[in-house]
Amino acid sequence: MAENILHDPAAQTPLKSLDEWEDFLKRRYPETAGREEAERLTAANPHKKKEEFRNYRAEARPTVKEFYRLNHTYQTRDFVKQKKREYLGLNHRRMGVWEAMEYLNQLVDDSDPDTDLSQIEHLLQTAEACRRDGRPRWFILTGLVHDLGKILCLWGEPQWAVVGDTFPVGCAWSDKIVFPEFFRDNPDSQVPEYQTRLGVYEEGCGLDQVDLSWGHDEYIYHVAKDYLPEEGLYMLRYHSFYPAHREGAYEYLMNEHDKEMFYWVREFNPYDLYSKSAERPNTKELRPYYEDLIAEYFPPQITW
Ligand SMILES: [Fe+2]
Ligand SMILES: [Fe+2]
Repeated sequence: MAENILHDPAAQTPLKSLDEWEDFLKRRYPETAGREEAERLTAANPHKKKEEFRNYRAEARPTVKEFYRLNHTYQTRDFVKQKKREYLGLNHRRMGVWEAMEYLNQLVDDSDPDTDLSQIEHLLQTAEACRRDGRPRWFILTGLVHDLGKILCLWGEPQWAVVGDTFPVGCAWSDKIVFPEFFRDNPDSQVPEYQTRLGVYEEGCGLDQVDLSWGHDEYIYHVAKDYLPEEGLYMLRYHSFYPAHREGAYEYLMNEHDKEMFYWVREFNPYDLYSKSAERPNTKELRPYYEDLIAEYFPPQITW
């Protein structure tokens, strides 16, 4: 079963574009949700949440559902280990950060160039939103590079192995993960050792010991590891770990340091999710500012 689909190119790209996944996230976690949650907690009726619960199942497009089905079916512990061996030696390419942004921009999908933003534009909008809020320079730079791991798509990786909300492999799946029912056909469901609360891990072992489903977050974290401050590295590595940073799941795998550092993951999330606007950033005008910022932290060429 798995073999057939892994060799069927059409099955690798259910999404029209990677943005379809992010647009879905934005609908699932609307910008006002944080405020509503705060109001609920201070309101007289703390049980209100149930009725307000958004029915993401009903709202998801068939393409998005199919994307999650593939992601949840094929992201096994073995798959993650194999991809880590394949990519974390960083022996695929040497290029500078701006060069990588241009490289990523070649990603051709079925998005509409007239209305949809390019990859560079999403990165610049995210970074510019951080800059407008007076965030520190490393924070702005982290915003600029956060999605560069999507170059995995250019190397033949299917959408479900590049994007998607991430989750730990090797232990029981939380029901806080989007569409948990799609784990039904994941081969790890047949491995009893992986189906307990802790699975192969220890209580509070720290996320560094935990394998998350493979994707653009883990990859860009490794690429940037020697160059950005730790807070920024947490932002990169866990920005798609929605079950943890938006749903509060898997706290029992975190150590105290992770819990402190997740402050930054949560601080970053709104810039990623809500900075998109129809107004296109002027790439040419912004480039000198960002080239300077890149040079402050990164050498001219890094390994990918
Ligand atoms: Fe991302
Ligand atoms: Fe992003």
